[in-house]
Amino acid sequence: MSGVLLITGGASGIGAETARRAARRGYKVAINYRSRDAQAMGVAADIAAQDGEAVAIPGDMANEADIVRLFNETERVFGRITHLVNSAGIGGGGMRVEAFDAAALHKLFAVNVVGLMLCCREAARRMSTKHGGKGGAIVNVSSMAGTIGGRPGASHYAASKAAVDSFTMGFAKDVAAEGIRVNSLRPGMVLTEMTEDRLKDDAFRTGIESTIAMGRVGRAEEIADAILWLLSNEASFISGARVDASGGGFVFGAR
Ligand SMILES: NC(=O)c1ccc[n+]([C@@H]2O[C@H](COP(=O)([O-])OP(=O)(O)OC[C@H]3O[C@@H](n4cnc5c(N)ncnc54)[C@H](OP(=O)(O)O)[C@@H]3O)[C@@H](O)[C@H]2O)c1
Repeated sequence: MSGVLLITGGASGIGAETARRAARRGYKVAINYRSRDAQAMGVAADIAAQDGEAVAIPGDMANEADIVRLFNETERVFGRITHLVNSAGIGGGGMRVEAFDAAALHKLFAVNVVGLMLCCREAARRMSTKHGGKGGAIVNVSSMAGTIGGRPGASHYAASKAAVDSFTMGFAKDVAAEGIRVNSLRPGMVLTEMTEDRLKDDAFRTGIESTIAMGRVGRAEEIADAILWLLSNEASFISGARVDASGGGFVFGAR
């Protein structure tokens, strides 16, 4: 597969695994990162060592100017962006409603929702045939949390991911006849930098795994492969879909 793929939050976890696998498939990969410069450079160096092409580009996906700069910089290095994966996201910390803090909620939605929507804006301006583009494919990394309201203390995170799913469906309809496919990919619990500290607690991990039909958490590469399939021409008639990668889904009442 050839093309120019921009991945937000690409220095770690699902984004980094997607970058590595995409490069092996022939994409030129732009890896956006916020604070993890060494990790981002490491992923890009690994890709280059395997004769792939990658560049690491800093930028805070909660900042509009950074987002615009990221897209311009990616195009300056690799040319026209054909594919986008919005993987940048934060959990927002465990918090019951009584403890909600406006600043924390604004930050959560600024990254998980508004930033993602602005990335989609930048992609649409470049990919849409209506604006002289040649089409493209986008995957927004959502979460199974959006469908069930999240695990205890995660209602704010769940709400942000439900917004991603809903936005993805509407955006997909807007641009479907303009050559752009947009889908959301909803992982269940996956072992990444976002979850590894909590999953080190055996009791926590056992409790989580008892709620997953396959009885285990997911691996980043399993999510990356699903993302890459959605980006590929094998998914050419799929747009506006919400694809679950969750080990068979939640088994309610198991805990
Ligand atoms: N792991 C799971 O169980 C799971 C389940 C469902 C959905 N997801 C979603 O999957 C996506 C990837 O998460 P992950 O599991 O791979 O965890 P991760 O390794 O923590 O990846 C998230 C990445 O997003 C970056 N990021 C956060 N805020 C950013 C910002 N403002 N600008 C640019 N980058 C930013 C982080 O970098 P910094 O640390 O430098 O900010 C980090 O590299 C997220 O959207 C997450 O919500 C994860």
